[in-house]
Amino acid sequence: MKKYSHLFLPFCLSILLLSPFKTHQYACDNSVIDTSNLAFCNTSLPYEDRAKDLVSRLSLQEKVQQLVNTATGVSRLGVPGYEWWSEALHGVSNTGPGVHFNATVPGATSFPAVILSAATFNSSLWYEMGRVVSTEARAMYNFGLAGLTYWSPNVNVFRDPRWGRGQETPGEDPLVVSKYAVNYVRGLQEIAEEGKVRSDGHKPLKVASCCKHYTAYDLDNWKGVDRFHFDAKVTKQDLEDTFQPPFKSCVVEGGVSSVMCSYNRVNGVPTCADPDLLKGIIRGQWDLDGYIVSDCDSIEVFYNSIHYTSTPEDAVALALKAGLDMNCGSYLGKYTENAVKLGKVEESVVDQALINDYIVLMRLGFFDGDQTQLPFGKLGLSDICTNDHQILALEAAKQGIVLLDNDGTLPLSPNKTNSLAVIGPNGNATKVMISNYAGIPCGYISPLQGLQKYVSNVTYEPGCANVKCSDGSQIDAAAKAAATADAVVVIVGLDQSIEAEGLDRVNLTLPGQQESLVMNVASAATGPVVLVIMSAGPIDVSFAKNESKIVGILWVGYPGQFGGEALAQVIFGDYNPGGRSPVTWYPQEYVDKVPMTDMNMRANNTVNFPGRTYRFYTGPSLYQFGHGLSYSMFSKFVKSAPSNIRLPLKPSHGLDPLPIISSKWALNLAQSERMVGLENITCEALQFDVEIGVKNEGDMDGSDVALLFWKPPSPVVVNGSPKVQLIGFERVEVKRGKIQAVKLRVDVCKDLSVVDVEGKRKLILGQHTLLVGSPSEHQVKHYLYLRLPEENKGAISYV
Ligand SMILES: *[C@@H]1O[C@H](CO)[C@@H](O)[C@H](O)[C@H]1NC(C)=O
Ligand SMILES: *[C@@H]1O[C@H](CO)[C@@H](O)[C@H](O)[C@H]1NC(C)=O
Ligand SMILES: *[C@@H]1O[C@H](CO)[C@@H](O)[C@H](O)[C@H]1NC(C)=O
Ligand SMILES: *[C@@H]1O[C@H](CO)[C@@H](O)[C@H](O)[C@H]1NC(C)=O
Ligand SMILES: *[C@@H]1O[C@H](CO)[C@@H](O)[C@H](O)[C@H]1NC(C)=O
Ligand SMILES: *[C@@H]1O[C@H](CO)[C@@H](O)[C@H](O)[C@H]1NC(C)=O
Ligand SMILES: *[C@@H]1O[C@H](CO)[C@@H](O)[C@H](O)[C@H]1NC(C)=O
Ligand SMILES: *[C@@H]1O[C@H](CO)[C@@H](O)[C@H](O)[C@H]1NC(C)=O
Ligand SMILES: *[C@@H]1O[C@H](CO)[C@@H](O)[C@H](O)[C@H]1NC(C)=O
Ligand SMILES: *[C@@H]1O[C@H](CO)[C@@H](O)[C@H](O)[C@H]1NC(C)=O
Repeated sequence: MKKYSHLFLPFCLSILLLSPFKTHQYACDNSVIDTSNLAFCNTSLPYEDRAKDLVSRLSLQEKVQQLVNTATGVSRLGVPGYEWWSEALHGVSNTGPGVHFNATVPGATSFPAVILSAATFNSSLWYEMGRVVSTEARAMYNFGLAGLTYWSPNVNVFRDPRWGRGQETPGEDPLVVSKYAVNYVRGLQEIAEEGKVRSDGHKPLKVASCCKHYTAYDLDNWKGVDRFHFDAKVTKQDLEDTFQPPFKSCVVEGGVSSVMCSYNRVNGVPTCADPDLLKGIIRGQWDLDGYIVSDCDSIEVFYNSIHYTSTPEDAVALALKAGLDMNCGSYLGKYTENAVKLGKVEESVVDQALINDYIVLMRLGFFDGDQTQLPFGKLGLSDICTNDHQILALEAAKQGIVLLDNDGTLPLSPNKTNSLAVIGPNGNATKVMISNYAGIPCGYISPLQGLQKYVSNVTYEPGCANVKCSDGSQIDAAAKAAATADAVVVIVGLDQSIEAEGLDRVNLTLPGQQESLVMNVASAATGPVVLVIMSAGPIDVSFAKNESKIVGILWVGYPGQFGGEALAQVIFGDYNPGGRSPVTWYPQEYVDKVPMTDMNMRANNTVNFPGRTYRFYTGPSLYQFGHGLSYSMFSKFVKSAPSNIRLPLKPSHGLDPLPIISSKWALNLAQSERMVGLENITCEALQFDVEIGVKNEGDMDGSDVALLFWKPPSPVVVNGSPKVQLIGFERVEVKRGKIQAVKLRVDVCKDLSVVDVEGKRKLILGQHTLLVGSPSEHQVKHYLYLRLPEENKGAISYV
């Protein structure tokens, strides 16, 4: 989204200059215009009627200037210009032109990169972060320093470890990404008391959120293939069970008020020009209450970069007819008027797009006149960078940090550590910690600063000039510092020069001489060495796993403004780590076997393709998805879960007569008869609870994540079924020696269905396995049978 940002700055400045006395912009201001005859200003009317009224007053020329992110407004109607593009991925961000920091508001709370917050597996934290961010956003809006419409979060699945934008996402698992999306979006959008649905069917919004980039967008620039030209070849099966679920959850459960279509094509069609993907699915099937916006500027990209249409007018007509309502960029503003005049798109299509846009602004109160009377009108400086907000940013980092390895030496004792060597190019990281799509944080605590709070005698040697670490000239000094210190913390990894928007990795190894730095330091050290990896994408650190002086390995993602404090608290045992890896850690060989451009999730033996993510990957990994240690020991058991589920078939199930089918079961039914399509099952209310007991058997209080995986029946009935799939999780605090119960709700049709090659969901009859715990824990098994209604339990044995 960075490509065109420079274009918008002059315009923003002019808005500010035109209205020197007004800090923030809103329509229907009685001091600007007589609103008594303007139905669009009448707050007793339904939003839809108001939006229609406004649109009916506009000329075509005026209309098209409102379809772009920097909307001009219509001053004769008292509608000021509005900048639609603000960002708030993990804190209010000045990445888009809608947000500015100045001496009045110099910073905002900067949470960890999403990839680390995801590692907390704590959905109430995700909601809470959204709530804090939207409070700060509203306060900044009141100063005229931020917008109301935020193009966050990024809910693309982290399909390939090389992706430069993996840091923005909640990881590789569709369920985790979905739950993150639902909670963060609700935190941003919901208004506590007024958040109820109005009689006109819409909910007022605190700020508007946006799930992006729809869909199958997860390649930026890899070996010369860039996102603007990339055509993602995606199977129906992968689309249905990997790429679409986060977007569906975001719209259906999260109630998001916007979806952004991406730059790439999916199976030949630019996503922003695809009526099936936009109008058909987002609006039709998922019933979006909101607007669909292009990436910046996807329309220009599909006209200019890939010549998808022969004229710009055809490009805008195609996008509007596909269901696009808003254009980040300028194309709709420049070419829509002509496209309508040439008869390429009806004006009524433009009207509907504007109505979709305006309803969102109305839900935000933008058309309600004096903002100081509105629920958020009084938020100000005392609501930004508050102590509570900053503590939550620290909390998110602590909860997310993943202890990958520990020989038992960690935590270090501050009493026994009189001197500490802090080493590595990320040892004193500040800006690196806040990742991309960041703002200006309220403050920083770097790893060095955090560790200095525990040990007074700290020497710091970066070892490399930067993470590229292209020469080893500083390694000796680092080794020397390690040799004399009681303990060593080496902080290596990546930053935006290696993984970024527009920049995918080619290797999974540490860049340049960093590996050599770690090994030299380890061999020189006399005390324990703690290896800390600051990166979003996983790194092949197998070189370090056998080095006995490396007593522990921690992954800290990009941990946000107070990341160094969080790290120090974990290393010295003031916080007991409980984060879990939201990605699979592949060995370097993975990148030789798998071209990033191959979108397939499923393994394919014919072509030696090992598959992607823990659900399908067949090769070895350093650390598996869901891995994460604690200073304590947790055991888990199934307290209660059903063993049989009878599927409520709809009358038209096509399995008549049932009793014959079910008695034939034992005689080895054809594969097609061992499954039922979801269309034939009454899925509503077909749910059950799994109650899990989590016992803390160690001697430290701590948090554990109860992960519930599902294994479909074997042998495989539907080709391409996942080996195993996460269907529920919850983070829980357990005091030492105590047991806590966790209840996870399982939705049979959603969670226990497999997707066939046509993209259709099926339930497989027979024995399903539920697994409690990640593969690196002791997994507890529970069997569950899905059965037909009339089938006689005792008489039938499943294979
Ligand atoms: C606003 O709409 C309501 C409901 O139609 C109507 O009763 C009221 O008179 C309108 N107010 C104004 C100022 O037009
Ligand atoms: C910061 O920007 C806002 C909005 O333009 C303005 O009202 C305020 O005076 C600015 N603060 C300073 C110190 O310039
Ligand atoms: C460390 O020292 C402090 C104060 O000197 C003491 O209270 C604490 O118990 C010691 N901790 C350990 C783990 O020895
Ligand atoms: C660590 O970073 C901070 C903030 O950038 C800087 O002020 C400080 O001098 C750095 N410390 C060292 C030892 O380089
Ligand atoms: C600090 O630690 C180093 C070893 O890393 C040691 O040589 C030095 O004497 C210590 N300084 C103080 C003031 O204790
Ligand atoms: C990737 O790794 C290969 C083999 O180790 C190396 O030759 C190459 O320079 C690395 N590329 C980058 C960009 O680090
Ligand atoms: C680490 O040790 C294990 C077991 O001793 C061995 O199988 C593996 O090859 C070693 N790995 C490396 C990178 O040396
Ligand atoms: C595996 O790849 C081959 C070659 O591209 C292809 O023909 C085959 O359909 C693939 N198999 C599956 C199960 O996708
Ligand atoms: C379910 O219904 C469809 C028609 O809606 C039918 O084609 C299919 O065979 C039925 N049976 C099963 C087991 O899915
Ligand atoms: C989840 O996060 C919230 C908000 O920080 C916190 O209050 C709660 O304790 C966390 N839950 C666990 C189990 O750590």
